[in-house]
Amino acid sequence: MSKNSKEAAAETLPKRQQIVLSGTKPTESNLHIGNYFGALRQMVDLQDQHDDSVYFIADYHSMTSVRDGAERRANTEAVALDYLGAGLDPNKAILFRQSDLPEVNELSWILSSITPMGMLERAHAYKAAKDKGEEIDHGTFTYPVLMAADILLYGAHLVPVGKDQKQHIEMARDMAQRFNRLYECDALTLPEPYILEGTAVVPGTDGRKMSKSYGNTISMFASKKKIKKAVMGIVTDSSPVEDPKDTDQAVFDLFSLFADEPAKEEMFERAAAGGLGYGDIKKDLLERLMDYFEPMRTRRAEYEEKPEAIEEILREGATRARALATPILESVRQAAGLGPVS
Ligand code: TRP
Repeated sequence: MSKNSKEAAAETLPKRQQIVLSGTKPTESNLHIGNYFGALRQMVDLQDQHDDSVYFIADYHSMTSVRDGAERRANTEAVALDYLGAGLDPNKAILFRQSDLPEVNELSWILSSITPMGMLERAHAYKAAKDKGEEIDHGTFTYPVLMAADILLYGAHLVPVGKDQKQHIEMARDMAQRFNRLYECDALTLPEPYILEGTAVVPGTDGRKMSKSYGNTISMFASKKKIKKAVMGIVTDSSPVEDPKDTDQAVFDLFSLFADEPAKEEMFERAAAGGLGYGDIKKDLLERLMDYFEPMRTRRAEYEEKPEAIEEILREGATRARALATPILESVRQAAGLGPVS
């Protein structure tokens, strides 16, 4: 887990052989600009830096919360559209649907048989659900095992994730290590969490971190009307138009995401001088935001009209993912004495 082991891994492997992998649960579509600047943008960039960037839509994982099949299908398509709209290039990265490789469940079982209950009982997500006194299903309890199988099945080296998911990567690493040790093999690659560079914590419309759970988001792909409503609702202090403005507020942080240095300086100077109202600042922000995401909205809309093209991309992605998975699963089965000797 040390930085050194990561560096050592990076040195021994040519860059192109490093597999970067991440999954997104299709629980809700509607990406917001916090998702974009906080991870998605960098993930899209990674496709040019690594030969195998693997992104999948974790529809099995969504089953612990979404209980409607049609809703899951719709969300799955929406996540694919979001990724493709944001610039994921299916000729570079692998994009697939988790359930198109049901063999992940085989690895999940194999891992669950070597995973101590205690490890799963320490998982943050499980503890949080338990503390709330919720009735917890078995899938929620074993969520980290399926997630480990997702990572280990494809031999991923690096998993870009936010802080909230770091524990899951550590557990995956732990399970891989246990399996390799118990069965005296090196079938499973130990993954590392991958902290993305250049990510920004984006403030929401109320100044707290932008997050679905705070209801303070500005959507990336919603209608202009909706986005306008969110932007105009950004909370500011109540200084009147003529007063100098304190530029240490969410509206200015948001503005800065969409302005180059000179434009930012000009805006901050005008605001600090007084005479510029928040309404005008927000209108300027809205126009910039719409312009910024315009090419992505267009691309997303184009894909939206061709659902068969999306299916084709996912199918093709599954074929490529299976090419990574098959030899790994076979080594695991051989090491564990499952199936005939090959
Ligand atoms: N647990 C992740 C989330 O809630 C989704 C996920 C499932 C994932 N499997 C993964 C992320 C494997 C990275 C790698 O967002």
